Amino acid sequence: MFKKLSGKTAIITGSSYGIGKSIAKVLAGEGIKVVINYSKSEDKAVQVVAEIENEGGKAIPVKADVSDSIEVGKLIDTCLKEFGGLDILVNNAGILPFGSIEDITDEYLDRVFRVNVYGAFYCCREVVPIMKKQKYGKIINISSISGQRGDNTTAPCYGSSKGALSVLTKSLARQLGPYGINVNAVAPHAIITPMMEYWDEEKRNKTKESIPVRRLGTPEDVAAAVLFLASDEASFITGQIINVNGGFLMDS
Ligand SMILES: NC(=O)c1ccc[n+]([C@@H]2O[C@H](COP(=O)([O-])OP(=O)(O)OC[C@H]3O[C@@H](n4cnc5c(N)ncnc54)[C@H](O)[C@@H]3O)[C@@H](O)[C@H]2O)c1
Repeated sequence: MFKKLSGKTAIITGSSYGIGKSIAKVLAGEGIKVVINYSKSEDKAVQVVAEIENEGGKAIPVKADVSDSIEVGKLIDTCLKEFGGLDILVNNAGILPFGSIEDITDEYLDRVFRVNVYGAFYCCREVVPIMKKQKYGKIINISSISGQRGDNTTAPCYGSSKGALSVLTKSLARQLGPYGINVNAVAPHAIITPMMEYWDEEKRNKTKESIPVRRLGTPEDVAAAVLFLASDEASFITGQIINVNGGFLMDS
């Protein structure tokens, strides 16, 4: 579908299930070699690799907790060693915390920022020198609607962490544009994945009613936006936060 994507290489963090899995499958479907990163669910990562290979694609599973900079270094090294390059980084791994500001312990706050923010920083820090050298790269951060307007159902540190990711996107886009590197974010809302399992039927129906297109989102809705941003057809787009939310939030 998109020119020149076949043969490129991508790392998608947290891609053994949920949105990350869909992104990996959609990119692999375009002939991109994909690294399926996971921190705990090895069986699921191996299953994603098998699905991709059965469909004629190329994928490898690589274990790394993105909140650990040493493991991130190994993740990038493995990609370079196994696939011989790296063109696309999708910072998708994330955790969804709950609780009020009074409930957040130091450890929990640290964990949320370590995974949702530091993880993306660590991955970007490793891949930017590679992308600068080759004068080509696409970085796509999976932010959230909560990073734009806040949220009253999740813990306040979730939206704050995603807001940090959105501003990281804009700063890197400004600094890396001259090197042929595009940096964008996708901000989803109401995508049905394991992360949203806590939504009961009533919450799902109420949410649908609040969305102009009157349905909940799918991981494939997010993956389609990522694929476009990873393509050279989107090379004049950088520093943008692309909403994938059925029209729930506009003009942010
Ligand atoms: N589902 C939604 O409606 C929604 C809305 C806005 C933003 N998002 C964001 O989209 C991304 C994917 O969310 P999802 O709904 O698929 O969630 P999910 O919980 O289904 O998947 C999260 C993924 O991140 C991985 N992960 C978690 N901690 C990790 C770590 N330390 N190292 C490596 N991988 C780790 C998990 O293993 C999993 O593969 C997240 O960043 C999330 O914040 C989701």
